[in-house]
Amino acid sequence: MNIIFYFTGTGNSLKAAREIAAVLGDTKLAAIPDHFGVDLFDYERIGFIYPIYFGGIPLIVKDFVKSLKIPKSVYLFAVATYGGGEWNGLKQINALLTPMGQGLDYGTVLQMGSNYILRYSRSENVDSVNAVAAKKLSKIAVSIRDRESRPCGKLNPLMSLPSWIFRCGVRKTVLKYHVSDDCTSCGLCAKICSVRNIKIKDGKPKFGDHCEQCLACLQWCPQKAINYRDKTKQRERYHHPDISVKDLMRKEELR
Ligand SMILES: Cc1cc2nc3c(=O)[nH]c(=O)nc-3n(C[C@H](O)[C@H](O)[C@H](O)COP(=O)(O)O)c2cc1C
Ligand code: SF4
Ligand code: SF4
Repeated sequence: MNIIFYFTGTGNSLKAAREIAAVLGDTKLAAIPDHFGVDLFDYERIGFIYPIYFGGIPLIVKDFVKSLKIPKSVYLFAVATYGGGEWNGLKQINALLTPMGQGLDYGTVLQMGSNYILRYSRSENVDSVNAVAAKKLSKIAVSIRDRESRPCGKLNPLMSLPSWIFRCGVRKTVLKYHVSDDCTSCGLCAKICSVRNIKIKDGKPKFGDHCEQCLACLQWCPQKAINYRDKTKQRERYHHPDISVKDLMRKEELR
């Protein structure tokens, strides 16, 4: 059996995880926030699929990898999805895994629709980017199934500095979020926040202090009621077209 750990805000990384799991067969998909420290001794292949944040790995992915005990001689792979600049998105995870016993056997990046609405409007070419990604994904899945080797190189820690600096601010993102009167108190944002950083109080979302800046709440709110400063109100929202809000909810939220 294989296991793929994924983290996602807008579905790109989940889409990639699902496609790879379908080709591998006998593969468990596991959301990273729910599986810290999980026992890994039953698996033949272990994968990590996540978005690149500020040219590196998201904080939660870093902490998650550190929580694991990786068994010897398992096939380790990673796919980092990104919008336009990959930088150290793979090398950072490899640098974490290597001292734990072994680095990645196979690592690759995959350009998909960019979700960074805090800076940019949804790009007009997301559909064509995702179409190219779908083709690449099929090949990546076959390579992983066939246990191919694809080393991802050594990290120059100095090159990682900018991403660590930017990531220091992510927990405070929500201080700049505001919720407009368009909010209908539907509760969706609280249900899809993968780190449970949102509670609905008095009919409105209240944000906690452990945001990952995944942008799920902002991107999926059906009313566009969550916004960042005055920047995002007019910007078109993005999520991967093959992923639905239900895919982001935990089982208990679906009852
Ligand atoms: C906080 C944050 C930082 C990001 N930084 C980068 C980046 O440095 N380079 C890049 O190409 N894309 C960046 N993106 C875009 C995402 O990596 C990309 O859209 C990814 O596929 C989203 O995956 P998801 O849909 O699984 O959440 C960033 C997105 C977020 C939310
Ligand atoms: S998803 Fe949007 S409309 Fe629903 S509770 Fe959250 S902010 Fe309000
Ligand atoms: S509060 Fe919003 S941006 Fe922050 S982790 Fe939750 S869903 Fe993602």
